[in-house]
Amino acid sequence: MQEKITALRTQCIAEIRQCASTAQLQDVKVRYLGKSGQITALLKGMKDVAPEDRPKIGSMVNTLRNELEELLEKKTVEISEQEMKRKLQSERVDVSLKSLDEPLGTLHPITLVTQQIEEILVPLGFKVLEGPEIETDYYSFQALNIPADHPARDMQDTFYITDSILLRPHTSPMQARYMEKHQPPIKIVCPGKVFRSDSDASHSPVFNQIEGLVVDKHLTLCDLKGTLEYVAQNLFNKDTKVRFRPSYFPFTEPSVEVDLSCSNCGGKGCSLCKGTGWIEVLGAGMVNPFVLENCGIDSSKYNGYAFGMGIERIAMIKYGIPDIRLFYENDQRFLKQFKK
Ligand code: DAH
Repeated sequence: MQEKITALRTQCIAEIRQCASTAQLQDVKVRYLGKSGQITALLKGMKDVAPEDRPKIGSMVNTLRNELEELLEKKTVEISEQEMKRKLQSERVDVSLKSLDEPLGTLHPITLVTQQIEEILVPLGFKVLEGPEIETDYYSFQALNIPADHPARDMQDTFYITDSILLRPHTSPMQARYMEKHQPPIKIVCPGKVFRSDSDASHSPVFNQIEGLVVDKHLTLCDLKGTLEYVAQNLFNKDTKVRFRPSYFPFTEPSVEVDLSCSNCGGKGCSLCKGTGWIEVLGAGMVNPFVLENCGIDSSKYNGYAFGMGIERIAMIKYGIPDIRLFYENDQRFLKQFKK
Protein backbone atom coordinates (compact mmCIF):
# COMPACT_ATOMS: atom_id res chain seq x y z
CA MET A 1 0.00 0.00 0.00
CA GLN A 2 2.79 2.35 0.93
CA GLU A 3 4.54 1.68 -2.36
CA LYS A 4 1.32 2.27 -4.23
CA ILE A 5 0.99 5.64 -2.53
CA THR A 6 4.58 6.61 -3.32
CA ALA A 7 4.19 5.55 -6.96
CA LEU A 8 0.96 7.52 -7.29
CA ARG A 9 2.68 10.55 -5.78
CA THR A 10 5.59 10.40 -8.23
CA GLN A 11 3.25 9.90 -11.18
CA CYS A 12 0.87 12.70 -10.22
CA ILE A 13 3.65 15.19 -9.52
CA ALA A 14 5.20 14.43 -12.91
CA GLU A 15 1.86 14.97 -14.64
CA ILE A 16 1.29 18.28 -12.85
CA ARG A 17 4.74 19.47 -13.94
CA GLN A 18 3.96 18.67 -17.55
CA CYS A 19 0.71 20.61 -17.62
CA ALA A 20 0.79 23.61 -19.93
CA SER A 21 -2.77 24.90 -19.60
CA THR A 22 -5.43 25.30 -16.94
CA ALA A 23 -7.57 22.81 -18.89
CA GLN A 24 -4.85 20.12 -18.56
CA LEU A 25 -4.49 20.88 -14.83
CA GLN A 26 -8.21 20.51 -14.38
CA ASP A 27 -7.98 17.14 -16.10
CA VAL A 28 -5.23 15.97 -13.74
CA LYS A 29 -7.21 17.22 -10.76
CA VAL A 30 -10.26 15.21 -11.80
CA ARG A 31 -8.25 12.07 -12.47
CA TYR A 32 -6.55 12.06 -9.06
CA LEU A 33 -8.69 14.06 -6.66
CA GLY A 34 -12.13 13.92 -8.34
CA LYS A 35 -15.04 11.78 -7.13
CA SER A 36 -13.76 8.74 -8.95
CA GLY A 37 -10.11 9.87 -8.91
CA GLN A 38 -7.21 7.63 -7.85
CA ILE A 39 -6.57 9.28 -4.46
CA THR A 40 -10.25 9.21 -3.65
CA ALA A 41 -10.21 5.51 -4.56
CA LEU A 42 -7.35 5.00 -2.08
CA LEU A 43 -9.41 6.57 0.70
CA LYS A 44 -12.37 4.45 -0.24
CA GLY A 45 -10.11 1.35 -0.10
CA MET A 46 -9.12 2.03 3.52
CA LYS A 47 -11.64 -0.53 4.66
CA ASP A 48 -9.41 -3.26 3.19
CA VAL A 49 -6.33 -2.09 5.11
CA ALA A 50 -5.49 -3.91 8.30
CA PRO A 51 -6.97 -1.94 11.23
CA GLU A 52 -3.58 -1.45 12.90
CA ASP A 53 -2.14 0.09 9.71
CA ARG A 54 -5.11 2.36 9.03
CA PRO A 55 -3.99 5.46 11.01
CA LYS A 56 -0.58 5.44 9.35
CA ILE A 57 -1.87 4.78 5.82
CA GLY A 58 -4.78 7.16 6.32
CA SER A 59 -2.43 9.95 7.35
CA MET A 60 -0.13 9.21 4.39
CA VAL A 61 -3.03 9.45 1.93
CA ASN A 62 -4.28 12.68 3.52
CA THR A 63 -0.82 14.21 3.44
CA LEU A 64 -0.51 13.24 -0.21
CA ARG A 65 -3.92 14.71 -1.01
CA ASN A 66 -3.00 18.00 0.68
CA GLU A 67 0.36 18.07 -1.05
CA LEU A 68 -1.19 17.48 -4.47
CA GLU A 69 -3.94 20.07 -3.90
CA GLU A 70 -1.31 22.63 -2.97
CA LEU A 71 0.83 21.78 -5.99
CA LEU A 72 -2.17 21.99 -8.30
CA GLU A 73 -3.12 25.36 -6.82
CA LYS A 74 0.41 26.71 -7.28
CA LYS A 75 0.65 25.44 -10.84
CA THR A 76 -2.80 26.87 -11.65
CA VAL A 77 -1.70 30.34 -10.54
CA GLU A 78 1.52 30.00 -12.53
CA ILE A 79 -0.24 28.88 -15.71
CA SER A 80 -3.03 31.50 -15.46
CA GLU A 81 -0.39 34.21 -15.20
CA GLN A 82 1.35 32.87 -18.29
CA GLU A 83 -1.93 32.60 -20.17
CA MET A 84 -2.85 36.19 -19.26
CA LYS A 85 0.56 37.40 -20.39
CA ARG A 86 0.19 35.59 -23.73
CA LYS A 87 -3.32 36.98 -24.20
CA LEU A 88 -2.16 40.53 -23.47
CA GLN A 89 0.70 40.13 -25.92
CA SER A 90 -1.49 38.79 -28.70
CA GLU A 91 -4.19 41.40 -28.20
CA ARG A 92 -1.80 44.30 -27.89
CA VAL A 93 -2.99 47.50 -29.58
CA ASP A 94 -0.37 49.73 -31.06
CA VAL A 95 -1.62 53.12 -29.99
CA SER A 96 1.20 54.84 -31.81
CA LEU A 97 -0.18 53.63 -35.17
CA LYS A 98 -1.42 56.52 -37.34
CA SER A 99 -5.20 56.47 -37.73
CA LEU A 100 -7.01 56.81 -41.03
CA ASP A 101 -7.56 60.47 -41.87
CA GLU A 102 -11.18 61.55 -41.49
CA PRO A 103 -11.91 64.04 -44.26
CA LEU A 104 -12.92 67.38 -42.77
CA GLY A 105 -15.56 69.48 -44.49
CA THR A 106 -15.29 73.18 -45.20
CA LEU A 107 -17.81 75.95 -44.76
CA HIS A 108 -19.86 76.77 -47.84
CA PRO A 109 -18.69 80.03 -49.47
CA ILE A 110 -22.14 81.56 -48.87
CA THR A 111 -21.86 80.76 -45.16
CA LEU A 112 -18.31 82.11 -45.14
CA VAL A 113 -19.26 85.44 -46.73
CA THR A 114 -22.33 85.80 -44.51
CA GLN A 115 -20.16 85.21 -41.44
CA GLN A 116 -17.54 87.67 -42.67
CA ILE A 117 -20.15 90.42 -43.09
CA GLU A 118 -21.62 89.67 -39.67
CA GLU A 119 -18.17 89.73 -38.09
CA ILE A 120 -17.56 93.16 -39.60
CA LEU A 121 -20.90 94.59 -38.44
CA VAL A 122 -21.27 93.05 -34.98
CA PRO A 123 -18.41 95.11 -33.48
CA LEU A 124 -20.21 98.23 -34.76
CA GLY A 125 -23.14 97.30 -32.53
CA PHE A 126 -25.33 95.41 -35.01
CA LYS A 127 -27.46 92.56 -33.71
CA VAL A 128 -27.82 89.50 -35.98
CA LEU A 129 -31.38 88.19 -36.47
CA GLU A 130 -33.12 85.68 -38.66
CA GLY A 131 -36.74 85.70 -39.77
CA PRO A 132 -39.29 83.46 -41.47
CA GLU A 133 -38.75 82.34 -45.06
CA ILE A 134 -42.50 81.90 -45.52
CA GLU A 135 -43.84 85.41 -45.10
CA THR A 136 -47.06 87.35 -45.29
CA ASP A 137 -47.90 89.83 -48.01
CA TYR A 138 -48.15 92.44 -45.24
CA TYR A 139 -44.52 92.22 -44.06
CA SER A 140 -43.12 91.53 -47.53
CA PHE A 141 -44.85 94.47 -49.20
CA GLN A 142 -47.52 96.54 -47.46
CA ALA A 143 -45.52 97.43 -44.34
CA LEU A 144 -42.62 98.38 -46.59
CA ASN A 145 -44.71 100.83 -48.58
CA ILE A 146 -44.81 98.62 -51.66
CA PRO A 147 -48.19 99.35 -53.22
CA ALA A 148 -50.49 96.63 -54.53
CA ASP A 149 -49.64 97.36 -58.14
CA HIS A 150 -45.85 97.41 -57.67
CA PRO A 151 -44.03 95.11 -60.12
CA ALA A 152 -42.11 93.44 -57.25
CA ARG A 153 -45.37 91.71 -56.32
CA ASP A 154 -45.77 90.24 -59.77
CA MET A 155 -46.75 86.58 -59.94
CA GLN A 156 -43.87 86.07 -62.38
CA ASP A 157 -41.41 87.25 -59.78
CA THR A 158 -42.78 86.12 -56.42
CA PHE A 159 -43.64 82.57 -55.33
CA TYR A 160 -47.11 82.80 -53.79
CA ILE A 161 -48.46 80.07 -51.50
CA THR A 162 -51.86 81.73 -51.10
CA ASP A 163 -52.97 85.26 -52.05
CA SER A 164 -51.50 86.61 -48.83
CA ILE A 165 -48.70 84.13 -47.99
CA LEU A 166 -45.52 83.81 -50.03
CA LEU A 167 -41.86 82.83 -50.02
CA ARG A 168 -40.16 86.08 -49.04
CA PRO A 169 -38.65 87.78 -52.10
CA HIS A 170 -36.21 89.75 -49.92
CA THR A 171 -34.98 89.98 -46.31
CA SER A 172 -36.52 93.47 -45.90
CA PRO A 173 -39.65 92.13 -44.08
CA MET A 174 -37.40 91.75 -41.03
CA GLN A 175 -37.15 95.55 -40.86
CA ALA A 176 -40.90 95.80 -40.26
CA ARG A 177 -41.06 92.80 -37.95
CA TYR A 178 -38.31 94.24 -35.73
CA MET A 179 -39.49 97.85 -35.70
CA GLU A 180 -43.02 96.77 -34.68
CA LYS A 181 -41.59 95.31 -31.48
CA HIS A 182 -38.65 97.63 -30.72
CA GLN A 183 -38.20 101.35 -30.37
CA PRO A 184 -34.96 103.09 -31.49
CA PRO A 185 -32.05 102.94 -31.22
CA ILE A 186 -32.15 99.97 -33.62
CA LYS A 187 -29.14 98.34 -35.31
CA ILE A 188 -29.79 94.96 -36.90
CA VAL A 189 -28.54 92.70 -39.69
CA CYS A 190 -30.69 89.88 -41.00
CA PRO A 191 -29.14 87.24 -43.25
CA GLY A 192 -31.22 84.55 -44.92
CA LYS A 193 -32.64 82.82 -47.95
CA VAL A 194 -34.91 84.67 -50.36
CA PHE A 195 -36.93 83.39 -53.31
CA ARG A 196 -37.68 84.72 -56.76
CA SER A 197 -38.87 83.14 -59.95
CA ASP A 198 -35.69 83.82 -61.87
CA SER A 199 -32.94 81.52 -63.15
CA ASP A 200 -29.80 82.02 -65.25
CA ALA A 201 -26.02 82.35 -64.79
CA SER A 202 -26.45 85.30 -62.40
CA HIS A 203 -29.93 84.61 -60.95
CA SER A 204 -31.17 81.70 -58.87
CA PRO A 205 -34.74 81.03 -57.65
CA VAL A 206 -33.28 80.68 -54.13
CA PHE A 207 -30.48 82.96 -53.09
CA ASN A 208 -29.20 84.73 -49.98
CA GLN A 209 -29.42 88.30 -48.84
CA ILE A 210 -28.31 90.25 -45.83
CA GLU A 211 -30.42 93.16 -44.69
CA GLY A 212 -29.20 96.02 -42.51
CA LEU A 213 -31.33 98.53 -40.60
CA VAL A 214 -30.34 101.40 -38.35
CA VAL A 215 -32.92 103.69 -36.73
CA ASP A 216 -31.90 106.52 -34.42
CA LYS A 217 -31.89 110.33 -34.27
CA HIS A 218 -30.19 112.59 -36.83
CA LEU A 219 -28.91 109.90 -39.17
CA THR A 220 -27.78 110.95 -42.64
CA LEU A 221 -26.70 109.42 -45.94
CA CYS A 222 -23.12 110.00 -44.71
CA ASP A 223 -23.70 107.54 -41.87
CA LEU A 224 -24.96 105.02 -44.41
CA LYS A 225 -22.02 105.64 -46.71
CA GLY A 226 -19.49 105.40 -43.90
CA THR A 227 -20.94 102.09 -42.70
CA LEU A 228 -20.96 100.60 -46.20
CA GLU A 229 -17.45 101.84 -46.90
CA TYR A 230 -16.27 100.21 -43.68
CA VAL A 231 -17.92 96.92 -44.65
CA ALA A 232 -16.54 97.05 -48.21
CA GLN A 233 -13.00 97.88 -47.11
CA ASN A 234 -12.97 95.03 -44.61
CA LEU A 235 -14.56 92.58 -47.01
CA PHE A 236 -12.43 93.42 -50.06
CA ASN A 237 -9.47 95.70 -49.39
CA LYS A 238 -8.75 99.01 -47.68
CA ASP A 239 -8.63 100.95 -50.95
CA THR A 240 -12.19 100.01 -51.93
CA LYS A 241 -14.29 103.06 -52.73
CA VAL A 242 -18.07 103.38 -52.45
CA ARG A 243 -20.21 105.28 -54.95
CA PHE A 244 -23.88 106.19 -54.56
CA ARG A 245 -26.20 106.55 -57.56
CA PRO A 246 -29.78 107.79 -57.23
CA SER A 247 -32.33 105.00 -57.35
CA TYR A 248 -35.80 104.12 -56.17
CA PHE A 249 -37.12 101.70 -53.57
CA PRO A 250 -40.57 102.23 -52.05
CA PHE A 251 -39.20 101.66 -48.53
CA THR A 252 -36.39 104.22 -48.71
CA GLU A 253 -36.37 107.90 -49.54
CA PRO A 254 -33.95 108.90 -50.93
CA SER A 255 -32.79 105.56 -52.33
CA VAL A 256 -29.41 104.69 -53.75
CA GLU A 257 -27.79 102.01 -55.82
CA VAL A 258 -24.36 101.32 -54.33
CA ASP A 259 -21.30 100.58 -56.46
CA LEU A 260 -17.88 99.51 -55.20
CA SER A 261 -14.64 100.22 -57.02
CA CYS A 262 -13.71 97.01 -58.82
CA SER A 263 -11.71 94.74 -56.49
CA ASN A 264 -10.18 93.00 -59.50
CA CYS A 265 -8.63 95.99 -61.32
CA GLY A 266 -8.78 98.59 -58.56
CA GLY A 267 -10.94 100.86 -60.74
CA LYS A 268 -8.92 100.88 -63.96
CA GLY A 269 -11.47 98.79 -65.86
CA CYS A 270 -11.46 95.06 -66.59
CA SER A 271 -13.79 92.31 -67.74
CA LEU A 272 -15.28 91.87 -64.24
CA CYS A 273 -16.44 95.51 -64.11
CA LYS A 274 -17.08 95.62 -67.87
CA GLY A 275 -14.47 98.34 -68.25
CA THR A 276 -16.26 100.81 -65.93
CA GLY A 277 -14.07 100.38 -62.83
CA TRP A 278 -17.25 100.03 -60.69
CA ILE A 279 -19.42 97.08 -59.66
CA GLU A 280 -23.00 97.43 -58.49
CA VAL A 281 -23.44 95.48 -55.27
CA LEU A 282 -26.42 96.61 -53.25
CA GLY A 283 -29.47 98.77 -52.70
CA ALA A 284 -29.81 101.18 -49.81
CA GLY A 285 -31.34 104.42 -48.64
CA MET A 286 -32.84 106.44 -45.83
CA VAL A 287 -35.84 104.58 -44.37
CA ASN A 288 -39.04 106.04 -45.81
CA PRO A 289 -40.95 107.80 -42.98
CA PHE A 290 -44.08 105.90 -44.11
CA VAL A 291 -42.35 102.65 -43.17
CA LEU A 292 -41.36 104.00 -39.73
CA GLU A 293 -44.96 105.13 -39.11
CA ASN A 294 -46.38 101.78 -40.36
CA CYS A 295 -44.28 100.11 -37.68
CA GLY A 296 -45.16 102.46 -34.83
CA ILE A 297 -42.04 104.64 -34.82
CA ASP A 298 -42.45 108.41 -34.62
CA SER A 299 -40.89 109.71 -37.84
CA SER A 300 -40.79 113.27 -36.52
CA LYS A 301 -38.31 112.13 -33.85
CA TYR A 302 -36.42 109.33 -35.54
CA ASN A 303 -35.01 108.46 -38.92
CA GLY A 304 -33.00 105.56 -40.28
CA TYR A 305 -31.00 103.99 -43.02
CA ALA A 306 -31.21 100.53 -44.53
CA PHE A 307 -29.34 98.39 -46.99
CA GLY A 308 -29.78 95.00 -48.61
CA MET A 309 -27.23 92.96 -50.48
CA GLY A 310 -27.07 89.64 -52.27
CA ILE A 311 -24.53 87.30 -50.67
CA GLU A 312 -23.96 85.31 -53.86
CA ARG A 313 -23.17 88.49 -55.76
CA ILE A 314 -20.61 89.55 -53.16
CA ALA A 315 -19.06 86.04 -53.12
CA MET A 316 -18.91 85.96 -56.92
CA ILE A 317 -17.01 89.24 -56.99
CA LYS A 318 -14.78 88.35 -54.05
CA TYR A 319 -13.76 84.94 -55.37
CA GLY A 320 -14.11 85.50 -59.13
CA ILE A 321 -16.93 82.96 -59.54
CA PRO A 322 -18.48 83.24 -63.02
CA ASP A 323 -21.76 81.35 -62.55
CA ILE A 324 -24.17 81.49 -59.58
CA ARG A 325 -25.19 77.86 -60.14
CA LEU A 326 -21.77 76.70 -58.92
CA PHE A 327 -22.90 77.56 -55.37
CA TYR A 328 -25.74 75.02 -55.41
CA GLU A 329 -24.22 72.07 -57.28
CA ASN A 330 -22.12 71.14 -54.24
CA ASP A 331 -19.24 69.87 -56.34
CA GLN A 332 -16.52 69.00 -53.81
CA ARG A 333 -13.81 70.34 -56.11
CA PHE A 334 -15.50 73.75 -56.02
CA LEU A 335 -16.40 73.78 -52.32
CA LYS A 336 -12.98 72.60 -51.08
CA GLN A 337 -11.34 75.78 -52.34
CA PHE A 338 -13.00 77.90 -49.65
CA LYS A 339 -11.37 77.86 -46.27
CA LYS A 340 -11.65 80.35 -43.49
N1 DAH B 1 -34.91 94.55 -50.69
C1 DAH B 1 -34.15 95.02 -51.82
C2 DAH B 1 -34.05 93.93 -52.88
O1 DAH B 1 -34.30 92.81 -52.56
C3 DAH B 1 -32.77 95.41 -51.42
C4 DAH B 1 -32.78 96.65 -50.58
C5 DAH B 1 -32.69 97.89 -51.14
C6 DAH B 1 -32.86 96.52 -49.22
C7 DAH B 1 -32.72 99.03 -50.41
C8 DAH B 1 -32.86 97.67 -48.43
C9 DAH B 1 -32.78 98.92 -49.03
O2 DAH B 1 -32.93 97.62 -47.11
O3 DAH B 1 -32.80 100.04 -48.27
O4 DAH B 1 -33.69 94.21 -53.96
